[in-house]
Amino acid sequence: MNKDIEIINIKALSDNYIWLLRNHSKKLTAVIDPAEAEPVEKILLKNNWELNQIINTHHHYDHTNGNLKLMEKYNAVLIAPKLEQDKIQNINHLVQDGDIIDIAGLPAKIIHTPGHTLGHIIYYLHNEKILFAGDTIFSLGCGRVFEGSMQDMYLSLEKIKELDPKTTIYCGHEYTESNLNFSLKVDPNNNELLIFADKILTQKLKGMPTIPTILKDEMNCNPFLRSDNPEIAENIGNSKMSPQEIFRNLREMKDNF
Ligand SMILES: [Fe+2]
Repeated sequence: MNKDIEIINIKALSDNYIWLLRNHSKKLTAVIDPAEAEPVEKILLKNNWELNQIINTHHHYDHTNGNLKLMEKYNAVLIAPKLEQDKIQNINHLVQDGDIIDIAGLPAKIIHTPGHTLGHIIYYLHNEKILFAGDTIFSLGCGRVFEGSMQDMYLSLEKIKELDPKTTIYCGHEYTESNLNFSLKVDPNNNELLIFADKILTQKLKGMPTIPTILKDEMNCNPFLRSDNPEIAENIGNSKMSPQEIFRNLREMKDNF
């Protein structure tokens, strides 16, 4: 990563990750999905940084609850999805699919990824190959389909698969261990997954976060990105299903896992 850029992982609530993005050369700071204000304030204070922008991927409480307090304290600009403007208060800058904005002075493309919520967006810092993914993709998993259709979520993940495989993904939750257990169940003979599992278990043992994750590893190991894989289809009982149908089956199985 560009040495002028630092991304700090802030744990919040039970398993949320808030991401703080600092551009040292431009002295700009943005926070992504502040579930809470206090842990963010603490880091800002410690480093003597101002907060310039608050970025939301979707309207859920555990991604937006710190917005107002941080806006008031730092006079930061709130950037959030246009399609969720009725569900998020005090947005300054509405954004939608295809827009290019600056986040902490770095160009970012907005990609609409409906499924988890209807207006969910992700922010792709294309020069740095950094993705703030909210609850669309997790390491070895994907978000629950609450508002959109299974087809919406399938297509949203297809959009992520088109990004550079070297992309570093910063998602909203630490769900990796449970996702790993599910992945091993539906794709037990995947060697890449077995190697990835070792890495994850070592991180867990050391009490380290497993996020961020790299898109290439997810393409090789995340069953929700591999619904076109014949072995997975066979393992879950129907090799004649389309990738979309396999995806639906996987998501439903995981919901009850
Ligand atoms: Fe969510």
